[in-house]
Amino acid sequence: MRTYYCGELRKEHIGETVTLYGWVDRRRDHGGVIFIDLRDRNGIVQIVSDPQRTPDSYELANTLRNEYVVEITGRVTQRPEESLNPRIPTGEVEIYADKIKLLNSVRKQLPFQVSTADADQVREDLRLKYRYLDLRRDRMAHNLQLRHQVVKAMRRYLEDVEGFMEIETPVLTRSTPEGARDYILPSRVNLGEWFALPQSPQLFKQLLMVSGFDRYYQIAHCFRDEDLRADRQPEFTQLDMEMSFMSQEEIIELNEKLVGYIFKTVKGIEIQLPFPRLTYAEAMERYGSDKPDTRYGLELVNVSDVLKDSGFKVFREAVANGGIVKILPIPNGNDLISNVRIKPGGDLFKEASEAGAKGLAYIRVRDDGEIDTIGAIKDNLTAEQKQEILRRTDAKPGHLLLFGAGDAATVNKTLDRLRQVVAKEFGLIEPEKINLLWVTDFPMFEWNAQEKRLEALHHPFTAPNPDDLSDLKTARAQAYDLVFNGFEVGGGSLRIYQPELQQQVFETIGFSPEEAHNKFGFLLEAFEYGTPPHGGIAYGLDRLVMLLAGEESIRDVIAFPKTQQARCLLTDAPSQVDAKQLKELHVASTYKPKS
Ligand code: AMO
Repeated sequence: MRTYYCGELRKEHIGETVTLYGWVDRRRDHGGVIFIDLRDRNGIVQIVSDPQRTPDSYELANTLRNEYVVEITGRVTQRPEESLNPRIPTGEVEIYADKIKLLNSVRKQLPFQVSTADADQVREDLRLKYRYLDLRRDRMAHNLQLRHQVVKAMRRYLEDVEGFMEIETPVLTRSTPEGARDYILPSRVNLGEWFALPQSPQLFKQLLMVSGFDRYYQIAHCFRDEDLRADRQPEFTQLDMEMSFMSQEEIIELNEKLVGYIFKTVKGIEIQLPFPRLTYAEAMERYGSDKPDTRYGLELVNVSDVLKDSGFKVFREAVANGGIVKILPIPNGNDLISNVRIKPGGDLFKEASEAGAKGLAYIRVRDDGEIDTIGAIKDNLTAEQKQEILRRTDAKPGHLLLFGAGDAATVNKTLDRLRQVVAKEFGLIEPEKINLLWVTDFPMFEWNAQEKRLEALHHPFTAPNPDDLSDLKTARAQAYDLVFNGFEVGGGSLRIYQPELQQQVFETIGFSPEEAHNKFGFLLEAFEYGTPPHGGIAYGLDRLVMLLAGEESIRDVIAFPKTQQARCLLTDAPSQVDAKQLKELHVASTYKPKS
């Protein structure tokens, strides 16, 4: 029987005889002495075999190759002074292998070196195809352990401290209103009808409140067919929660304690509660984003009022058309950002135009406080306007001011993007810093220009702010997002529980009573039978773990993720199915591959 995991062995185990199981990470032959790094999910320890001290194991030790599976029994010994290895936790000890049993060998050439020493350069597609090997590596094993610790902390806190109950909700269900495309599945038993995989357990968790399970949580799989990015997967995991009889303040407070508990137990870090808050309006104004990274400054400055009568047409017309003019002030920007980068063809110009900007105007502040810019701007700025711009942006000699002008959404998107690029390039982000903040008071609705109608920003069950009921169209929602270093890691809201108000919200987004009934009739009916006031939140577990692990992609904290093309390279899914299966379902594909 195993006595320890490899990574557990320390000085205090010296003298013990231990049995370990694991994989050969590397084998080295130092003039007749064989060293084996033995690895399991927990870490690595050095095994030694030589003809004098361990004659019974030496012959076999000599034949071992990388990734062979072995059982080793031996004595824990102090490493000699010259071979101490402070880089690994077991670096003070080594095991003299009295007995080695080969449990299995490797029969094929390994697609890549699994050993922690070499693995970081491996191509991601290879790692994903042979994910079971990739997961043997230290970094991935550590990430999955961390994920497990986070989930464990969530369960401990919610169940043991706050009295939450985990309840599973169906995966074969109806479409849920989270705004992405659904994954749908044909029903064989009910031909012509389709299940949708849940985008979140939203509707069921609200029904559970109607049933009286007033503190629900679930580690829930969610499915969204949307464009993928480093922080988005088609299948991802939420910590999903719903509570009754609690105000927004109480929900936020409970969640801060939960997050504090997670940081404390998993990282040993005491984070400051309560978290700072920004309203949506403030976040957009100061950072151009509803998920601002506040680890660094570079705040945006609105100069629409200063430039509304500017002789420079672009600024004047932006404001006249209901848009804005904003500045991203960059201290020392003159040293580091050349005109070539800002002008068409330059990398910063490209960032801006990818965000929808048509141009990227700038001002450079010179040593004498004079400004340098293209003539069209310079010739059209009055002395007062110039002074006011410098005052508001607190610009000093060396400052570069980048302008966004146009509709508010595009300006904010452009400057947010540039702000992030500049912060990275200038090294303004301290990687160890943890900034958690709430963004509150989201608008209830946003304009869908394609469909020419308002749509719910969060989802149509989100409750409006009671102070804004006189004009629902512009009402703020009782909704809150948790932002961690510039990533949205969670979001939730109080829900509507009065049918009349729900009806008004449906009307505002252009849902007729019939449509509302067809889509959510079961929920609306349930609300007729005594619904408590309730609200909730869901965290993106993958994103949270990614940030805690210091990774840049959620793929690195998911055991078996999909690629950016939404494929599983390991199982090669999605795949064709038998014609027989399709026939039974009365489903035929109309897709014609391009020849
Ligand atoms: P929302 O849609 O904001 O809210 O989702 C909650 C959190 O889930 C994470 N997330 C994702 N993570 C990885 N890949 C994705 N494709 C993806 N989409 C979302 C984000 C996000 O903050 N039912 C509501 C919650 C509620 O109101 O209680 C909901 O799902 O971190």
